[in-house]
Amino acid sequence: MASGCKIGPSILRGDLACLGAECSQMLDSGADYLHLDVPCESGSLLSRHFVPNITFGHPVVESLRKQLGQDPFFDMHVMVSRSKQWVQPMAVAGANQYTFHLEATENPGALIKDIQMKVGLAIKPGSTVEYLAPWANQIDMALVMTVEPEFGGQKFIEDMMPKVHWLRTQFPSPDIEVGGGVGPDPIHKCAEAGANTIVSGSAIMGSEDPRSVINFLRNVCSEAAQKRALDG
Ligand code: DX5
Repeated sequence: MASGCKIGPSILRGDLACLGAECSQMLDSGADYLHLDVPCESGSLLSRHFVPNITFGHPVVESLRKQLGQDPFFDMHVMVSRSKQWVQPMAVAGANQYTFHLEATENPGALIKDIQMKVGLAIKPGSTVEYLAPWANQIDMALVMTVEPEFGGQKFIEDMMPKVHWLRTQFPSPDIEVGGGVGPDPIHKCAEAGANTIVSGSAIMGSEDPRSVINFLRNVCSEAAQKRALDG
């Protein structure tokens, strides 16, 4: 059964010039984990871009691990056109979970076996959730994106909630993560649909009081989980 409710600030929305301090502030504010978006090209610049953005790769993850110590859980959301290429470098750098995209992988089953970390499998808004079914019992977490995987600060796509509900009813064990435009307004819909792992960037990183936002998101999510447990 999926573990309790967890809140993961998306560091993409922080000041990337002082990433370590931003991560420390989020952890001090009660974050359960850190969500690190890695939209970047995995090969030559001529190869197909999976997303039209670029942030940082495994060298930055290695520096963050050195600065923050072994405790913080790094959820790597890897948005590249060749998902396999960065598995080993991310593991060596100190990542805890490797969340790759179903749309960017020819053989998800083989890649899942290769990942010596916790495994997340993500789908973009345009992808059918049933495509996750063959691997849903082999992964630790499913990420249902609620924005197009490009940039933070986009508007939450409520039409993604039936995907979350379908996953929660069909596969009780993996965590279900939502990410993209999630904050104090959309959280109720995410929690009621069955999400228990919440990525939030702008709403947390942009707040004067990130702790209160994190606590609010977690409370709403926990109440919905308790209600689901009571309703059976
Ligand atoms: C899903 C997304 C998030 C998110 C960024 O992993 O990549 O990281 O959009 O923050 P928001 O959308 O909450 O500002």
